[in-house]
Amino acid sequence: MRQPTDLENLAAQPIAGADELAGAFAVQPHDALKSADEHARVFSNLSFGVDFTDYMAHATWTAERGWHNKVVEPYGPLTLDPAGAVLHYGQETFEGMKAYRHDDGSIWTFRPTYNAARINMSNRRLAIPEIAREDFVASIVDLVRADARWVPSEPGTSLYLRPFVFASESFLGVRAASRYEYLVIASPSGAYFKNGLQPIDLWVDRQYHRAGPGGMGDVKTGGNYASSLLPKVRASQTGFDEVLFLDAATNTNIDELGGMNIFVVMADGSVKTPVLNGNILPGGTRSSIIQLLESHGTPVSEETISLQSVIDGLASGEVAEMFACGTAAVVTPIGRLASDDFDIEVPLGDVTHAIYDELTAIQLGHLEDRFGWLYKIADAS
Ligand SMILES: Cc1ncc(COP(=O)(O)O)c(C=O)c1O
Repeated sequence: MRQPTDLENLAAQPIAGADELAGAFAVQPHDALKSADEHARVFSNLSFGVDFTDYMAHATWTAERGWHNKVVEPYGPLTLDPAGAVLHYGQETFEGMKAYRHDDGSIWTFRPTYNAARINMSNRRLAIPEIAREDFVASIVDLVRADARWVPSEPGTSLYLRPFVFASESFLGVRAASRYEYLVIASPSGAYFKNGLQPIDLWVDRQYHRAGPGGMGDVKTGGNYASSLLPKVRASQTGFDEVLFLDAATNTNIDELGGMNIFVVMADGSVKTPVLNGNILPGGTRSSIIQLLESHGTPVSEETISLQSVIDGLASGEVAEMFACGTAAVVTPIGRLASDDFDIEVPLGDVTHAIYDELTAIQLGHLEDRFGWLYKIADAS
C-alpha cells in the first residue's frame, strides 16, 4: 500500500472548526460594498479569475512582530514601493482553493490543511516565513464569511480562493526580504466546462522546461508559471490548449502540465502518474484521485513515465485514456498528444468521467466524505 506523503500527513492532522478559528482576521468597516446590480451582473456570467469580491484577507510579517495586522479589509489596490523586492526577484508563493455552496446553503472548502501545508512548503523553499496553519485556515474562514454573498450555488460554480505571500521590503539587494504581505483574494467562478468535460490537446515541449532538479518545480511560486508562459504561447499559436513538460534532467520523461498534474489510464484498468520527483507540484487533486482510485481497488503506480512509453502505449492500445487534474478544472480529459515528430489522438474513456463525477460529488456534499476532506466554513445564512 502506498505511504502517505509528508504533505498528506500534515494535512491529516486535526484542526479546529471554523467557529473556533473565526475572528483571527478582524473584519474592517467597508463603506463601498458592490451594488446588488453589480452582483447580479457578475453572477449572470460567471467566468474564471475576472471578478473579485468585496473583501480581502491581509496580514504583514516583520522580524520584530512576526505575522501581525491580521484583517479582512475592503478589496482594493495595494501600495507597493517600486523597489519592493517581489517586483525584482520574484520572492512569492501562492495557493489555489475553492469554497462551494452545498444544497442547504452552507459553505464548505476542500482539504484546506493540505493547502496550508503546501504554502508552508513553498514558503520554506522561497525563504519566506511560514504561516501558522490555524491562521491560514482562519483567513479563509473570515474572508469567506464576510464575502458569503459571493459564493455561487449553480452546479460547477464556486468561489475561487487565491492565498498568496510576497516580499514587500523596499530593497534591491539580493537576499531574503525582511517584510512580507500575506493576502487572500476571492473570485466567483463559473463551471470550467459549461457543456460537460471537454478534452484538451497537449503539446509536448522538447525545448523548454518549467523546472529542473534542485529548482522550485515542486512548490507553488510565480517563477514556475512565468517560465511556462512562452512555451504555452507557442503551443497555442499552433492550436494546442496546454503544454506537457518533460523532465529537465533527461528530456525523456513526462512531468506535468503548466498548471495541472497528469494521469495515464491503462487498458488493464491500472492507472499511472509521474512520481513526485522534486520537479512536479504535489497537487491536492492528484493526491485525492490516487486515494479514491485505490479505495476502489484500482492499482495506482507513481513512477517515472517515459514519453516514448506513452506514445507506444497509445499506438498499441495499452494506454486507454489520459487526463489532467487540478483545483480549477478538477479533471480534464486529454484528447491529443503531439510534438514535432508525432501527433496522436488519445482515446476518451470512462475512468476520467467517473473520477470527475466522484470527486465533484464529494466536494458538493452529494457523496459521503469518506476521507474527511470537507471543511465547513459557514452555515446557511
Ligand atoms: C504546476 C501545477 N501542477 C499541478 C497543479 C494541481 O494542484 P492542485 O490539485 O492542488 O490544484 C497545479 C495547480 O495548482 C499547478 O499549478
